[in-house]
Amino acid sequence: MSTPEDTASAVDYETESVGVLVIGAGAAGARAAIELAERGVDDLLVVGKRGHGDAHTTWARGGINGALGTHDPEDDWAIHAADTLNEGHFVNDPAKVETVTRAMPDHLRELDDWGMSFSRTDDGEIDQRYFGAQSFRRTAFAGDHTGESLLDTLVGRAQELEVPYRENLLVTKLAADGDRVYGAVGVDLDTEEPTLIEASEVVLAAGGYAAIYDRHTSRDDENNGDGPALALDAGASLMDTEFVQFHPTGMAVDESDPEWAPWRGRLVTEAVRGEGGRLYNAEGERFMERYSPDQMELDARDVVARAIAQEVREGRGTENDGVYLDISHREADFVQERLPRMYERFQDLGVDLSEEPVEVAPTAHYGMGGVAVDDYGETDVSGLFAVGETMAGVHGANRLGGNSLAETVVYGAVAGERIAARDPEPGTVPAAVRESLVEPHVAGLTTLADSDGEHEPRAVLDDLQNLLWDHAGLLRDGDQLREGLDQLAEVRDAAEEMAVGPLGSRSFEFAVDVGFSLTVAETVMRGALERDESRGAHYRTDATDPDPEWRRNIHYHAADVGVTTTTEPVGEPSETVQTALDEGHELDYHQLE
Ligand code: FUM
Repeated sequence: MSTPEDTASAVDYETESVGVLVIGAGAAGARAAIELAERGVDDLLVVGKRGHGDAHTTWARGGINGALGTHDPEDDWAIHAADTLNEGHFVNDPAKVETVTRAMPDHLRELDDWGMSFSRTDDGEIDQRYFGAQSFRRTAFAGDHTGESLLDTLVGRAQELEVPYRENLLVTKLAADGDRVYGAVGVDLDTEEPTLIEASEVVLAAGGYAAIYDRHTSRDDENNGDGPALALDAGASLMDTEFVQFHPTGMAVDESDPEWAPWRGRLVTEAVRGEGGRLYNAEGERFMERYSPDQMELDARDVVARAIAQEVREGRGTENDGVYLDISHREADFVQERLPRMYERFQDLGVDLSEEPVEVAPTAHYGMGGVAVDDYGETDVSGLFAVGETMAGVHGANRLGGNSLAETVVYGAVAGERIAARDPEPGTVPAAVRESLVEPHVAGLTTLADSDGEHEPRAVLDDLQNLLWDHAGLLRDGDQLREGLDQLAEVRDAAEEMAVGPLGSRSFEFAVDVGFSLTVAETVMRGALERDESRGAHYRTDATDPDPEWRRNIHYHAADVGVTTTTEPVGEPSETVQTALDEGHELDYHQLE
């Protein structure tokens, strides 16, 4: 790695050169870096926009899937793949689904070897719990803090391998010429210096876009669409961003109560239902009996979320427009052992989860779409990879809980292996790209910082999040979406008139997030309008059935103004997975009772 230095150009920025740059330090980025380091690539840098070990992965809770068969030996990777395709409503890429599901048992054993604090059975095996719409107990877990434990493990392993890490660096643009990537530009949030990192291979592991919605489970400054927006701007295409997962059980709170208000929409892990939690409406009815008598509370997230929304819409909701989630029929010790973080959180708010129900309602949780990539995680821009929630293809129209952490470790490793085989040289940004792209961008960042205008960036983000919630939410229709797209133009105008703080300030970060979020929001709404059918998490009240003609992926391409779209048919599963599909496995909830 070269020593940072100032370039002698009209625009000042620090420059550093590495072979491989990994943008994002959550599970996917860390796993990619580990694979690279284990394969001998040491000219490598991981950058994170927060402190080391602090990434959104820490908020992932209920588990990570892999067909280990701890309790259910009849489970195998092909049934895991079949469940994933079924619940993705067959717009997942079957090849990527197979890559993830085949590899996961070994990844779980590897994480165990690296010291991950999995919950264990009495025999000392990695324990596995039920999770929604999965035929068998396949979700390995560490209490209800699986993401935290996973990230600690990966960070520990990366440290053993001496993976170089740079914290508090906000990436704002990729240095690319449409065909190839040469590095990335950003701002060091500590020194406030614009920074160019040259790299011959770049891995984008910068999360998803669920936080472009008003009520969401993400940390407030993450999942604003950074990863997909950076890739689209660099010439890669996005895919299927109209598929947004609304988790059924976000916290429904009294927003006028200052103690509860910050918890609005925060995740109440699916593990509560996986451990037996039941849903009741305000009339005390276990309403899932009407919507899904076989799979009950553990039907797919889209089904349970729509059922809750319908109960509320039809007047059977709670005071805070939710329903009740109740696990008080389980022993207090069991609840505290299996769901320790949930138990503590509610205890801090004066509620004993083992004794009383909590109010829950759907909340934006995950973007199934993202950057279109090949089987190795590479985009159509040479040298640019996207992994984890940033990439598209594994989850189709609806993700299984526990498959996101699985995807992070598998695709992190797949991309790392692919890049290592290229023996990457230190990166150099061609002079023409510096002049035409890097320097104007750095100049633009300094213009954005300290700019004067009538709108606070945070307020513009709030407006955008409300717009998405109202116009492209759990239920959508064509008129709402068209109106939403018109209103998006107004948010864009407001974004041109922002009052922004200095480089590196929170206000500056929010202003950058406005740009990312606007880009992805447009693709979400355009795709949702174009896909005039209902499939998985995308539910159109004006086209309520799936249309077989729509077994296609929508690709979004950057245009001079906004985006254009094309569609492509989805591939077919392998014979092995087709056999598992034909066998018709599915979860029988009543085994849990
Ligand atoms: O509910 C949960 O614990 C979420 C898990 C996931 O989205 O994979």
